[in-house]
Amino acid sequence: MTDIQPQHRHVPSCTSTSDLARAWAAHPVEPAAHGSWVTADYQTQGRGRRGRSWQAAPGENVLLSMVLRPSFPQSDAWQLGFLAALAVADVLEEGGLEPQLKWPNDVLVQGKKAVGVLVETVPAGALSSWAAVAGIGLNVNQEHFENADLLLYPPTSLYLATGWHWDIADVAQTVANALLLRVAQRDADGWEAVWPDWQRCVAHGAVLKRGNIKATLVDVNQDGSARVRLPDGTFAVWTSVE
Ligand code: BTN
Repeated sequence: MTDIQPQHRHVPSCTSTSDLARAWAAHPVEPAAHGSWVTADYQTQGRGRRGRSWQAAPGENVLLSMVLRPSFPQSDAWQLGFLAALAVADVLEEGGLEPQLKWPNDVLVQGKKAVGVLVETVPAGALSSWAAVAGIGLNVNQEHFENADLLLYPPTSLYLATGWHWDIADVAQTVANALLLRVAQRDADGWEAVWPDWQRCVAHGAVLKRGNIKATLVDVNQDGSARVRLPDGTFAVWTSVE
């Protein structure tokens, strides 16, 4: 690990903040330190999990990607998505909301999706043995969403949930701080120290979709898998969803 200080870069527009963070992490001369982060007002090719796109109106939301160089092993990289979702939930709780974590990495507010998280492992460059980029899309002041009714969990924003506008730069900085804190906690104290906080916010009973199957979330196991109830009443353990 390095003692180079993390930095923040903001751009008005880009393909994806995760593209910029990836390139920065692997930069041959000045690679991004652990905790360096990128934000944008607008993404032309924002991406979500499982090949989906991430649409966000210009200048109304947090679009943030952070370079992470954890000291825990790369085999536990899956925990970063959980840590990122929990970090945003920490911030929303501080803001007076009651966020719920929908397995694996979404954050719900009032039963709708306010936050999406996409973690990608990336070429680490010279500074660490492995690295990842945690991309966070948090809907802040957006009022209208296209095709919202077609989604299993329609989008919402902090504005729609609270009725007031939030300072986007301030929310982004708070989320970045919270994510660094949660990764530091995992690095120092292990996953078992983080896990009870994650479990406290789980959206039990959430509907999950895998292919054509809709199941109900019963519980999340400490290894990150989900225990679900299938439509025929039987139980199964899922390690991924659509
Ligand atoms: C999902 O819910 O499928 C994950 C969405 C992740 C979106 C964020 S916005 C910032 C970063 N840049 C991207 O292109 N994606 C992530």
